[in-house]
Amino acid sequence: MRTDTGQIIHLADYRPTDFVLERVDLTFELDPTATKIEARLIFHRREGTDPTAPLILDGDELSLSGLLIDQNEIPAERYDVTAEKLVIRDLPESTPFEVTVITIINPEANTQLMGLYRTNGVYCTQCEAEGFRRITYFPDRPDVLAPYTITIIADKAANPLLLSNGNFLGGGNYDEGRHFAAWFDPHPKPSYLFALVAGDLGVVEDTFETMSGNEVALKIYVEHGKEPRAAYAMDALKRSMKWDEERFGREYDLNIFQIVAVSDFNMGAMENKGLNVFNDKYVLADPETATDQDYANIEAIIAHEYFHNWTGNRITCRDWFQLCLKEGLTVFRDHEFSADQRSRAVKRIAEVRHLKAEQFPEDAGPLAHPVRPTAYREINNFYTTTVYEKGSEVTRMIQTVLGRDTFKKGMDVYFERHDGDAATVEDFVKCFEDASGKDLKQFSLWYHQAGTPLVSVSTAYDSASQTFSVSLEQTVQATPGQPNKEPMHIPLGFALLLDNGSLASASSVKGGDVTGEVLHLTERAQTFTFGGIGSRPVLSLNRGFSAPINLHFEQSSTDLLHIVRHEPDLFARWQALTDLALPVLMKATRDVRDGRQPEPQAELIATLLEVAADDTLEPAFRAQVLALPSEADIAREFGSNNDPDAIHAARQGILADIAKAGQATFETLFTSLVNEGDFTPDAASAGRRALRNAALSYLSYLDGGATRAAEAFASTNNMTDTIQALTVLAHRFPGQSETANALGAFLKRFQDNALVLDKWFAIQATIPGASTLARVKALMEDPHFVASNPNRVRSLIGSFTFSNPTGFSRADGEGYRFLAQQILAIDPKNPQLAARLLTSMRSWRSLEPSRAAHAEAALSEIDKALSLSTDVRDIVERILK
Ligand code: ARG
Ligand code: ZN
Repeated sequence: MRTDTGQIIHLADYRPTDFVLERVDLTFELDPTATKIEARLIFHRREGTDPTAPLILDGDELSLSGLLIDQNEIPAERYDVTAEKLVIRDLPESTPFEVTVITIINPEANTQLMGLYRTNGVYCTQCEAEGFRRITYFPDRPDVLAPYTITIIADKAANPLLLSNGNFLGGGNYDEGRHFAAWFDPHPKPSYLFALVAGDLGVVEDTFETMSGNEVALKIYVEHGKEPRAAYAMDALKRSMKWDEERFGREYDLNIFQIVAVSDFNMGAMENKGLNVFNDKYVLADPETATDQDYANIEAIIAHEYFHNWTGNRITCRDWFQLCLKEGLTVFRDHEFSADQRSRAVKRIAEVRHLKAEQFPEDAGPLAHPVRPTAYREINNFYTTTVYEKGSEVTRMIQTVLGRDTFKKGMDVYFERHDGDAATVEDFVKCFEDASGKDLKQFSLWYHQAGTPLVSVSTAYDSASQTFSVSLEQTVQATPGQPNKEPMHIPLGFALLLDNGSLASASSVKGGDVTGEVLHLTERAQTFTFGGIGSRPVLSLNRGFSAPINLHFEQSSTDLLHIVRHEPDLFARWQALTDLALPVLMKATRDVRDGRQPEPQAELIATLLEVAADDTLEPAFRAQVLALPSEADIAREFGSNNDPDAIHAARQGILADIAKAGQATFETLFTSLVNEGDFTPDAASAGRRALRNAALSYLSYLDGGATRAAEAFASTNNMTDTIQALTVLAHRFPGQSETANALGAFLKRFQDNALVLDKWFAIQATIPGASTLARVKALMEDPHFVASNPNRVRSLIGSFTFSNPTGFSRADGEGYRFLAQQILAIDPKNPQLAARLLTSMRSWRSLEPSRAAHAEAALSEIDKALSLSTDVRDIVERILK
């Protein structure tokens, strides 16, 4: 483990390298514990730089086994080397020269899963962001681009497969039962996109013909025997390739595209040029073992990594501060892809739910940072929902501000102008300014100002003048390092709904810029006045979640109900239902906390049941509505002094009331929504399953709930229904024999399938209530718990700390102490995993005082540790500040 040095990297310090890298030639002699790497790097000194400047190469836990310049030994006084740096002096002033670096590394001992490591007997790499420097000394930064030639030599029996980036050059047998393969990637790339995989894997093959008629070989590698489970990923890949051609005119650019699924991986997946490496959870699926959510994730992540080929690889980032340039943009592209493959409105609801659940708390707490940060201590800690999801929302807003056609033109300018570049956010924005003729200076604040803007709204109708006015005021709260904020350009989708359900169109607008169905809030406070409005309209604002903001708009329940019934935009209907439900849930929480009996909520319940039973609405939408705001949503809405037990009890009470009032509806949904025929993962079938399972969940609050759930569990033919039934049993009836039986049967049936076992762990880790901590501790002793596997750790410990408010935040603070111990145990082995788990504490200050004190004490325990990774040190210090 690299321990923290306290060093902070600043965007303002960026400068190009003194040396230009022309070519990279790597030879790997693979061995589980002593892999030898010979790196031959051709450099020349950049014109106009200091002719005496030394060459500085990055390393991480490396030791140097050989160093040559132009194939000659180099005297010791010409270089200095440590595990982290190789500095070479007295290099040629103007001619290119070759540096040969030899290192020997131990993949088997690499528990951080950065650089070259082993997973289930397979060699694999992860180099983003700074893993390449764990393989060889190198200018390991994204603005150093070169073509790579790779030779891999390994034992043939154990590693029949030898893969790297680019096109296959050739291979053959070598001495002592070994063989070799050579690969060449003609597209200059930074080191973070390098990949190597070697081992014995099964393959699924297909081909794709690009729009200009090139045939691309497609290969997905998985463990032997799992080939049938890669079919859906292959299908998603082909659809992604087609979509990027149709929507953005982007064609694939090598003759082969490969994906490898591995079981030990720190993140979701990685877009290495021509050789994506995936967490197998985002590749493997079949009806028996994958849920609808798994299928949707696979489709989205396969697309995401493929889309990086243009947004990330052909055009990469100048430095890591520009991470959103590739990530925000690529998330936007994968969101659009999924929306086109599925129901756009339901997809949007899911996106916004995720954004609010993950990014809004980040932006409201101690880890808040701009989409384009200006300083970091550990770059791995900036692969955040702010960079990814808010970054995507910012891209979406550019499209909203410019219109879809001009946005597309701007993207064309970007691809045209920056192909082959390591670019910046400024470069990106400039393309849209040039394509549109618009000044995007104020808009760019979205990249630079952290925090979720709050827009307060009030409206007035004047029948005498037939005008309707909308007054808006924006504020952005202070965030770490940014006490004062400028007013932002907030594009607000809107509609004025009339009594008969039609949309009013104004004859005039005063007070600000309105384009089509978008109102542009650019001042701190602004009043828009619409003329020619014959009767008082209902304002539907921030339609489609056009801007990632919080709205403070006290709309009457009559107006909200009008939106629920008449808005053509389904997303806006869902938003209105949420706005109806949240105050009710908050009021009930206060009642519980203060020992009062919560009042019955007939109006909300009637509305929800009306939507649930409305067969004209798509089932997936109705399921989203029935899900109600989560406990975390309620906590976020309170913002401070949170008591997770009160929130849980209040929400459960309302769910039970809905169940009672809606018994007939839920019975009907449960019996009528059975899909006929074989399982298919398409969105419509998934939507029916979602609604039916929502009904099952409500029915569990009525007499015979456990029996019904146990029957449902016993009679399913797909993993979605199995998981839903098992979740109902475990979460609603944790102590009952039905639950113990179902958990036991599930384990017995799926104990050989790691991805399904993860679900078994996660369901138990999220059982509400204080006693789940003991269960989690016991499960860590279960022989199926594998502490070295990140998926398993996330499924048990991560599910507990991120998704179990009453269990993790139990009143005595034991949950936090448990997390602190786990962080200290995991950090020396896998700092990235530890740091990510620790972010589950990011909202500790919004807890009620006694829990907050326990949380602070646990964080201080971590902070006191003498040796922490940079990853954990960075998070713990920022969280505590
Ligand atoms: N670029 C990858 C993706 O989003 C993720 C890499 C994450 N790297 C990290 N160090 N956390 O597709
Ligand atoms: Zn990405």
